[in-house]
Amino acid sequence: MTDADALFAPLAADAVPAVSRLAARCLAADGGLPLAAGEGFTARRYAAEGGLAIGAYDPDGTLVAAAAIRPTGGTVTGTALVDPAARGRGLGVAALDWCLGGADVMETESLTDGAAALFADRGLTMSFAEDVMRHDLKEIPDVPLPAGVRLAGWAPDTVSRFHAAYRAAFAERPGFPDWDQEQWTGWLVDDDFRPPWSLLAVDASGADLGFVVCGDGWLVQVGTTPAARGRGVGAALTTAALRAAAADGASEMLLDVNVDNPVAADLYRRLGFTVLGRRARFTRPASAR
Ligand SMILES: CC(C)(COP(=O)(O)OP(=O)(O)OC[C@H]1O[C@@H](n2cnc3c(N)ncnc32)[C@H](O)[C@@H]1OP(=O)(O)O)[C@@H](O)C(=O)NCCC(=O)NCCS
Repeated sequence: MTDADALFAPLAADAVPAVSRLAARCLAADGGLPLAAGEGFTARRYAAEGGLAIGAYDPDGTLVAAAAIRPTGGTVTGTALVDPAARGRGLGVAALDWCLGGADVMETESLTDGAAALFADRGLTMSFAEDVMRHDLKEIPDVPLPAGVRLAGWAPDTVSRFHAAYRAAFAERPGFPDWDQEQWTGWLVDDDFRPPWSLLAVDASGADLGFVVCGDGWLVQVGTTPAARGRGVGAALTTAALRAAAADGASEMLLDVNVDNPVAADLYRRLGFTVLGRRARFTRPASAR
């Protein structure tokens, strides 16, 4: 019998609301994206088709830990939650080892030092990490547009220019997918997309220097062309988007920034964003599978 057999039992599909409450307690302690405690989010992980899930309950019936594995494309991904009040009892180790019985990738929405140490101990390496940052829109710094630069809005006749600015700005980012305009707008434009908060920076000669695109409560992407960097265009675009969102009644703006992008993270911090938490994926080396 493994530790998990002693501590955990299979989790019923109707336990999703309890998993969401557990996720909310973890997010309150560890930080991270509030959305990760939503029932849709937890259902996709803890009640996934073709997946398995286990839970540990305290005598009073509170779900104090949960773990799940699910097929994700060509791999199997595991995830686990341990109530902040129930840590130090071996639940995390047992949950991780149960997950690693089937999964090669572990994902977390709020990485803690303890979890990182545990993943390292089991030979997993971090394959992806991004910080979730938040701006409360209370004090948006006054960042003037660089001399001669003006802003243009998202409109049918500027979409192709936004796309060209996206390609120029993100081309050097690791994993850049080089989407064509249809793929990019297909990914970007949904019910939450906010055209009035999405802007293009244009210089006096009419050349586009950068862009920002936003969804409801989200700064989705900001980028400047390599030649235009370090002149305050990124800061001006970001603050202009925050101001547009605030003027429309938004109370916060969130964004994700990869931990391999310190220039962008510094810029956001300087403009008043704070880190809510870190999302991460850890992968088992192929040699250990
Ligand atoms: C992150 C990014 C948008 C910043 O745009 P930017 O127009 O250079 O931003 P700013 O000029 O307002 O500020 C950049 C900061 O980078 C530094 N910087 C200075 N010179 C720089 C240069 N030549 N190139 C890049 N950064 C420079 C400075 O710290 C500067 O801050 P400062 O105003 O205190 O000097 C831009 O680097 C970019 O498009 N990167 C690729 C796409 C990307 O990663 N987007 C963010 C995804 S989350």
